[in-house]
Amino acid sequence: KPLVFSGVQPTGNLHLGNYLGAIRNFVALQDHHDCIYCVVDMHSITAQLVQPDLPSQTRSITAAFLAAGIDPKKHIVFNQSRVMQHAELAWIFNCVARIGWMNRMTQFKDKAGKDRENASLGLLAYPSLMAADILLYRATHVPVGEDQKQHLELTRDIAAKFNNDFSTKIAELGVGVEMEVGQETVHGFFPITEPLIEGPATRVMSLREGTKKMSKSDASDLSRINLTDDADTIAKKIRKAKTDPAPLPSELDGLKDRPEADNLVGIYAALSGRSREDVISEFGGQQFSVFKPALVDLAVNKLAPIADEMRRLEADTAYIDSVLRDGGERAGAIAEANMKTVREIVGFLSN
Ligand code: TYM
Repeated sequence: KPLVFSGVQPTGNLHLGNYLGAIRNFVALQDHHDCIYCVVDMHSITAQLVQPDLPSQTRSITAAFLAAGIDPKKHIVFNQSRVMQHAELAWIFNCVARIGWMNRMTQFKDKAGKDRENASLGLLAYPSLMAADILLYRATHVPVGEDQKQHLELTRDIAAKFNNDFSTKIAELGVGVEMEVGQETVHGFFPITEPLIEGPATRVMSLREGTKKMSKSDASDLSRINLTDDADTIAKKIRKAKTDPAPLPSELDGLKDRPEADNLVGIYAALSGRSREDVISEFGGQQFSVFKPALVDLAVNKLAPIADEMRRLEADTAYIDSVLRDGGERAGAIAEANMKTVREIVGFLSN
């Protein structure tokens, strides 16, 4: 049975990239799937350990999930650290994954920078915890933005190696399932997870530099639209967004070497729920002096209600905490049932 899992770090402001690349898709998936959405607070201490506002950041991401339309009664919303089995399974995966696999991760190289010896061990092991998040629930589908693709490939590698290394024990205990992976049928305890990288905005770029991804950590606030920006701020940021002087092309092909224009068209398409082709057929040949104000209107219309609802929810910490507590209990029950089997497969005595 398909099960959706995804996570968002409670570090810095949520921006349009997080919303269009991930959260919006979380909302869409809940109509036809069982979903688990997690605020990954344990991941957020890998880059910076001491974060006095971690509790409020965790609540704020939770508020964003709910404000965007995730239903915490039908689905599970919780913060990672509440369910300690994430750490337990991550440890086992630290012994499944190879150091070389971790060293190849582009996000690790970016985040660790030049002084790699001085990065936390947690930053190196980050993808192993991420694999544990997903596989602890034996989730089959993971909606994310493009930048998480490599981590999801690693998750598949970890699942495949675990299934393979323990194949005898898994068969003996009768806890494996048959899965279709590409053309092949494989047998194992952990599913080989499918990434869902979908929509016209899987990689939203910086508004200041069309070749850099929009990110929480960019020093310039003008580079991103935060989910909590008010209408004036959104308007200012779009007005100041870098563009080239040419009008929009009348064919999609014409966006090829124009990263800034391409980015704004992608954002327009995603926010309006239309295809890029459609947007180009409406605005092709128009100047940015026409397109940008239309984008401002659209962005304000779509984002302002979410920002308002987020603010309202953030003020109600008792409610937010009750959502996380309830979600944590439900997640914990699934997690413990699966971990019992994992402990048995590995050979840890626990009875
Ligand atoms: P995080 O917190 O950096 O980002 C949350 C989600 O937003 C997407 N995203 C973007 N999408 C499009 N354009 C952008 N500019 C952009 N920036 C961010 C990310 O791809 C992500 O989907 N490692 C993950 C969190 C995580 C996780 C998991 C995800 C931990 N465990 C298990 C899925 C499953 C991260 O740091 O996301």
